[in-house]
Amino acid sequence: MSFRVLGTGMYVPPRVVTNDDLSQFLDTNDAWITQRVGVKERHFSTNETAADMGAKAALSALENGGVAAEEIDLILAASVSGESISPSVSCMVQHLLGLSCMAMDINAACSAFDFLLETAAGFFARGKVKKILVIGTERMSRILDWEDRGTCVIFGDGAGAVVLGTGENYIDAVFDVKGGNDVIDIPQPVGMSPFYERGQEKKPFAHMAGQETFKFAVTAICKDCKELLQRNGLTFDDIAYIVPHQANKRIIDFASMKLKVPQEKFYVNIDRYGNTSSASIPIALDELNRAGKLKRGDLLLLPAFGGGLASAACLLRW
Ligand code: COA
Repeated sequence: MSFRVLGTGMYVPPRVVTNDDLSQFLDTNDAWITQRVGVKERHFSTNETAADMGAKAALSALENGGVAAEEIDLILAASVSGESISPSVSCMVQHLLGLSCMAMDINAACSAFDFLLETAAGFFARGKVKKILVIGTERMSRILDWEDRGTCVIFGDGAGAVVLGTGENYIDAVFDVKGGNDVIDIPQPVGMSPFYERGQEKKPFAHMAGQETFKFAVTAICKDCKELLQRNGLTFDDIAYIVPHQANKRIIDFASMKLKVPQEKFYVNIDRYGNTSSASIPIALDELNRAGKLKRGDLLLLPAFGGGLASAACLLRW
């Protein structure tokens, strides 16, 4: 027993920030961001927390799936930009929805949605749950260094969610973790202990070695997708859509070229939302679903990659 997707949802905060808006206070421009990253605009929260946005995406997924909030047995959430280490984002979403079910977070940065799906599959396999809410939600704006133009222009805020019920539509997944903080690092503030040695602290914002991240990402998408398809006796021709983590349009274009898979097979919306980390795949799924582009039985590949360094790909039947 695994699961099937009963409903999808998303939420982005109303404030839209264009590349021209960023160039008002940052030494950047629309042409550079469009060409190197593929983002035209993104949404930024002015006062909503990651949990606030996650709860709104969750309600939208519940409504889409025709599922009452009280039916949910477990909330699984991910965020690298929640307001507190504890309570977790999932606990805060549970609180906002007025539920009393189990709730827990998983930290796997931009690949987290795939790790959440695999964890959900484990709960279904144990027969412990009938319905799970899975949420990726990010207020990336609060962990960006607004003076680092190589990083802050890439990201956006938002949340995506799916409601899962018992079924057989989650087919397989691959995961790869190469731990270390030299390529991507989001450190916590160091603390006030009078006993600590000082001097080596990194600013508590997202740090990224751009070109190393780029190479890692392209390699990871290609390797994970090929391995997953091979293991299941499938080719890219069998796949209706590849719904990748929306990190950078050029990463997706390079992967498409290396894999010799047409660009149209990759769903891309980074131009409108930027990189929303753990929220990007469920936001993309919701857009595809609500646009009526997914048919029952369609096979979807969901490749993800990011901090950890971690990467993953899931194979899902719609
Ligand atoms: N606007 C204008 N110029 C910028 C800029 C910006 N926002 N950011 C950097 N530049 C400049 C640099 O200062 C540099 O100028 P110089 O040649 O005068 O020194 C030039 O552009 C090239 O910088 P570089 O860092 O080498 O660019 P790049 O081609 O590697 O592109 C990234 C930078 C971040 C877009 C690219 O490395 C990338 O996409 N990496 C992956 C990021 C990612 O996907 N992260 C999420 C992973 S989950």
